[in-house]
Amino acid sequence: MKISILFVDDDRDVIDGYKRMLFSMKKEWEQFYAISGEDALKIMEANKIDVIVSDMKMPGMDGTTLLSKVMELYPRVLRIILSGHQDDIKIIRSTTLAHQFLLKPCDTNQLMNVIENAFSLRTNLENDKLMSILNGIGQLPAIPKLYLEIEELMSSPDVSLERVSKLISKDPAITAKILQTVNSAFFGLPRRVTSLIDSLNFLGTNTIKSIILYLQSFSSANYPPETRVYCEAVGSHSLQVALTAKEIGKIEKKDKQLMDDIYIAGILHDIGKIILLQVPGYYKKMLILNTTGLKRSIDIEYELLGVSHEWVGAYLLGIWGLPKSVIEAIAFHHSPSKINESGVTALSILHVANAFVNYKGDKFSGNELDVDFSYIGNLDLIAKLEFWWDSTKKFKEIDNE
Ligand SMILES: [Fe+2]
Ligand SMILES: [Fe+2]
Repeated sequence: MKISILFVDDDRDVIDGYKRMLFSMKKEWEQFYAISGEDALKIMEANKIDVIVSDMKMPGMDGTTLLSKVMELYPRVLRIILSGHQDDIKIIRSTTLAHQFLLKPCDTNQLMNVIENAFSLRTNLENDKLMSILNGIGQLPAIPKLYLEIEELMSSPDVSLERVSKLISKDPAITAKILQTVNSAFFGLPRRVTSLIDSLNFLGTNTIKSIILYLQSFSSANYPPETRVYCEAVGSHSLQVALTAKEIGKIEKKDKQLMDDIYIAGILHDIGKIILLQVPGYYKKMLILNTTGLKRSIDIEYELLGVSHEWVGAYLLGIWGLPKSVIEAIAFHHSPSKINESGVTALSILHVANAFVNYKGDKFSGNELDVDFSYIGNLDLIAKLEFWWDSTKKFKEIDNE
């Protein structure tokens, strides 16, 4: 499927620059150009647009007004701000108006990466069903603001744990929840951690960043009261999977980048289940279909909706701009053989960690694990399963208090 992109900038030289830069992408991207917000809305009325890339400062309708109209009228369109001013980006980051922010000048590769990552999943066959489910939901949650602020701080040269800690502690509610989470039995820290700076020292900034995503994604405050217990259960399952996956990554001596990806993929792998709670009537129907609690959630989803939480989650994280390996691991965590890969990757680790945590028995039994054996066999991992199990079963024995 061709992606259609609308570029909006009042400066004709900038528009000509885009045209030159993206000439080679003509086959893959249908391109539209507008020189004002008004012009952009007219184009959107007449054409199906997937992505809008807009300037901020424009005479007449400015970028902020344009994007708020697009958000209201076409909530599924990916909104990107491309601005020449760091300050403008800071302001718009504090809102949910844009999904991605780029600083001018931005090269073709950077722009292509952002757009292709967000849309890499759209070519899938399930796309039409997924889109109709997402359209029924309306607005998807935005990536937590604090997460973006930490990322921005981490990319500055004078970043320090003190500065990260200072930034997080501006929000006392989240600070209290972080301390509660890191002191829970899940993390098995040698002593009680009483300050943010200690948590950062023990667990590292990337883990704390993921915990922020976890806390905000599974916070029952955002969902109807009858789904609270379910949200919390998906949340603790996710944390167990993340820790199990990270342990397997450690055993396999994976590099830091992959370890961070695995952890974040573990925490967010089932976020699609939470998003699906917004589909009217879905939660009730799901409970009726699964009175015994034995049916696999993914089978229920296909039966009721024709789409799985893997894709819903992956789509959201594409919009949030998370790394491709994380998105891929989430998109295929129940069906890993749909993708071609070799070696131990974030996906294979996530697939196994999820099966370990879901397995009800306490003795290792290869046959009863809900893993795709032909996939695991092709990767030559079957012989490793028992050792991975022995090294990670401690995470299964934890009760979240
Ligand atoms: Fe899942
Ligand atoms: Fe899961």
